[in-house]
Amino acid sequence: MSAEQPSTSGQEPFPLPVKQQIDRVHHVIAISSAKGGVGKSTVSTNLAFALQQLGHKVGLLDADIYGPSIPTLLGVNQRPEPDVMGRIKPVMAHKMPLMSIGFMVDAGQPLAWRGPMLFQVLQQFFHEVRWCGYGDMLDYLIIDLPPGTGDIQLSMAQQIEVTGAIIVTTPQELALADVRRGVSLFNIAQVPILGIIENMSGFVCPHCQQRTDIFATGGANQVANEYGLPLLGSIPLDGAIRHCGDAGLPLVKAQPDSVLAQTYLAIAQRLVDIVASRPTPEP
Ligand SMILES: Nc1ncnc2c1ncn2[C@@H]1O[C@H](COP(=O)(O)OP(=O)(O)OP(=O)(O)O)[C@@H](O)[C@H]1O
Ligand SMILES: [Mg+2]
Repeated sequence: MSAEQPSTSGQEPFPLPVKQQIDRVHHVIAISSAKGGVGKSTVSTNLAFALQQLGHKVGLLDADIYGPSIPTLLGVNQRPEPDVMGRIKPVMAHKMPLMSIGFMVDAGQPLAWRGPMLFQVLQQFFHEVRWCGYGDMLDYLIIDLPPGTGDIQLSMAQQIEVTGAIIVTTPQELALADVRRGVSLFNIAQVPILGIIENMSGFVCPHCQQRTDIFATGGANQVANEYGLPLLGSIPLDGAIRHCGDAGLPLVKAQPDSVLAQTYLAIAQRLVDIVASRPTPEP
């Protein structure tokens, strides 16, 4: 096995079957990180609302089957209902269609599904959710991935056409090692990487205004250069981001005129430009 080959627990390297488009979705953007807790779900929600604020039609899919956090970050908890055709209608969260396993299970229930069950749930999420009304299309579906380079990432890469992945990282060396693992996985799975977002990048004390680089500095830029990937932006460590997440309303929505919201909006615009500059795939 070469260094580039992901370990698949002694199984054969995974085959790449024909990938399918998600119905009524133009662009699927996967938000990923090999390391946990770097802020993927917070980036996913804020980026989704930033894209919406830029005038795009956006949906959000929480693919963290084992630890869904988007319902909490958006303050919603409701069982999705079927439409007349038997397809799943996503829950609307602040006017954004959202699907999460968190809606289907009771709070605190452990989700210890293995291969086939996991595959079935993802199949349903990818192919049985009715993201838009008839004749309509989402411009972007943001998929919030769990941490790591495991079954969910591989199933997504096998099952659906993904426009590209964004890798979220914190700036310190420990996290960058995981970024490299993530880059390798997406390269092997033939999912383009659209760029890197550095999160928790510096903390400015609200009392004395002094900046402290709690997780070091410049790491994401370094790894972006190493792989020739764009650095989409850097988001500081800021209590307001955490507070808004806990309150169930992402910062971009709660404080749309703030400097922090402008940072997310600039990242969203960079993403839109990168997607627009890519060649259209062959049908
Ligand atoms: N830039 C930031 N400033 C302050 N707090 C942040 C920032 N980004 C994320 N957080 C907080 O860090 C915590 C972890 O964030 P989040 O759940 O988004 O990480 P994650 O990468 O999705 O985690 P997991 O790997 O478990 O899915 C949350 O409490 C969130 O509010
Ligand atoms: Mg998460």
